[in-house]
Amino acid sequence: MLRSMLGSSLVHLLALSGALLAPSSWASPTPRQSASWPYGPFQVSGAEMKNSRGDSIVYAGANWPGHGEVMIPDGLQYQSIATIVSKIKSIGMNAIRLTYAIQMVDQIYANGMKDTTVQASFNAALGSTNGPKVYAQFLAKNPSFNSSTTRLDVFNAVAAECAKQQIHVHLDNHMSRAAWCCSTTDGNSWFGDRDYNVSNWLRGLSYMAEHAKSWTALTSMSLRNELRSPDSNAALKAQSYNWRDWYTFVRQGTSRIHAANPDILIFLSGLDFDTWMTPVFQGTAMTPGTGKFSAADFPGHADKLVLEIHNYDNGATNCASLQSTLYRNGFQAMHADDAKTVTAFPVVLSEFGFAQTDSEWRRVYATCIASYLAQQKAGWFIWVLGGSYYIRSGTQDYEESWGLLSHDWSAWRSQSYVDGGLRPLIQNTAKN
Ligand SMILES: *[C@@H]1O[C@H](CO)[C@@H](O)[C@H](O)[C@H]1NC(C)=O
Ligand SMILES: *[C@@H]1O[C@H](CO)[C@@H](O)[C@H](O)[C@H]1NC(C)=O
Repeated sequence: MLRSMLGSSLVHLLALSGALLAPSSWASPTPRQSASWPYGPFQVSGAEMKNSRGDSIVYAGANWPGHGEVMIPDGLQYQSIATIVSKIKSIGMNAIRLTYAIQMVDQIYANGMKDTTVQASFNAALGSTNGPKVYAQFLAKNPSFNSSTTRLDVFNAVAAECAKQQIHVHLDNHMSRAAWCCSTTDGNSWFGDRDYNVSNWLRGLSYMAEHAKSWTALTSMSLRNELRSPDSNAALKAQSYNWRDWYTFVRQGTSRIHAANPDILIFLSGLDFDTWMTPVFQGTAMTPGTGKFSAADFPGHADKLVLEIHNYDNGATNCASLQSTLYRNGFQAMHADDAKTVTAFPVVLSEFGFAQTDSEWRRVYATCIASYLAQQKAGWFIWVLGGSYYIRSGTQDYEESWGLLSHDWSAWRSQSYVDGGLRPLIQNTAKN
């Protein structure tokens, strides 16, 4: 106890002094090459993500949200962590995109570097009637936890189970303020928006990169989910919502993560809800500035960068047109042979999804994306793993009809999709 308090106050002092030196800079360095799974450090080579043995890594996985108001991964009042990770593993998925909110880190700083207990977090998010009930269900399903378990203890346990079952963990900063994402008016849309304090964001990235360094399964982190126009802040929108400022803030974020953990990949997400990244790989001007993407702007970590894009063109009726959108806005980066590709990157479709009925997956959108990912040999994370959220947009125990799993996370919602669509997609893409 004393030991951990001392460690915490040291980190706190360093942070206060304005130089957030990660504890790694004074502890002994971790070995650079791991002889066991996942064989870090990871790096990028052209359009491929690779482990230290040179194996190509392609993520085939699901989003597992932990950025809602309770600020722990969803579903744990219904199933144990081991049961959920076993479900993921059972069909061959090899990765999760685990989301968190910067607010969790802000609260840790505000609370003398102590994280909140899960018990308190359930009460704060769900109220004094439902909070204790759901917390009791959480304990019943996950009996290794107790009244002193913190939110980060739960993240740690998810990561530990993923390591045990060899599921890669991609840690994603989804929001600043913990809540359902995303709208252009939710105050979390862009650097400097109402709840999107840039220095807290950078501090949060450093903290999580440092914290998650002990997770064997961690192989990548993102900077921020779905950047978007700050429509409730006209001045910010006019002055800053552009590729020039994107490039400034993105470099600050990547250098924070890389300084804390040089072994992992870092995902960059684009504008308009992360639907396009064109200037990055085409090497055109970061407008309204004149700067262009340059590896030299990412000292020592240009070979860690991966592009992520999202697609929710669920009403698509023309597959050729959907695929050309995906290519133009992102996947062209995987084609160094395209005359307009100046810098090649791996590209991961880190969100797409659709209602888990027995018919939806047979329509144009889902079949088209599946065939495209297979053709591109690209990674992906479907939205979403779970069949419910502790709370979403004010509704507790919110039913998620897009969830791969049923409301209580016990069974596949559409067995026909899992057998007819999802398993083939995994087989056609997943590597390592
Ligand atoms: C309570 O749970 C934490 C992890 O969440 C664990 O480290 C600790 O040992 C547990 N305490 C007891 C008394 O079981
Ligand atoms: C961001 O938060 C910090 C505290 O972490 C505060 O000092 C600073 O004023 C905030 N910045 C803005 C622009 O609100």
